[in-house]
Amino acid sequence: MYQTLTRDLDALLDSADHPITTLANSAAFIFRNIERINWAGFYLYDGSKLYLGPFGGKPACTNIEMGKGVCGTAAAKREIIIVEDVDKFPGHIACDPDSRSEIVLPIILPDGKLYGVLDIDSAELSRFGIQEKEGLRVLAEIIAKKLAIN
Ligand code: SME
Repeated sequence: MYQTLTRDLDALLDSADHPITTLANSAAFIFRNIERINWAGFYLYDGSKLYLGPFGGKPACTNIEMGKGVCGTAAAKREIIIVEDVDKFPGHIACDPDSRSEIVLPIILPDGKLYGVLDIDSAELSRFGIQEKEGLRVLAEIIAKKLAIN
């Protein structure tokens, strides 16, 4: 399934587009094409904190400090973080009480700079496992590559 999504996202995104366009279509694509999720979108790094970028789903928290919550931790460590049960993640930022599990992937540009994170939430416990981690890692890399050329 992720192979098809990779191919389709690569075809959808045009590296000549403005970064907001790329982020907006990426968020909509992920939100519509991945099952059993209730939010998908970006938090972008401004050099000191993360701020809400394009997303699909309910309105969300606007600013996240580096190192705070799942997004801030993934950004600070530049690591993919899977949380099987958000109630068990110390410092989790609850934007939507329906969300039970999530995955956050850093978006790192090819030159090594942190651009932000891709955050995907689900109302199901343990929605994200190794298959999602590997599939979404490739999608995040494609998005980073398309952003980089601007
Ligand atoms: N869950 C995130 C906050 C963002 S919302 O889920 C959209 C976190 O703890 O970083």
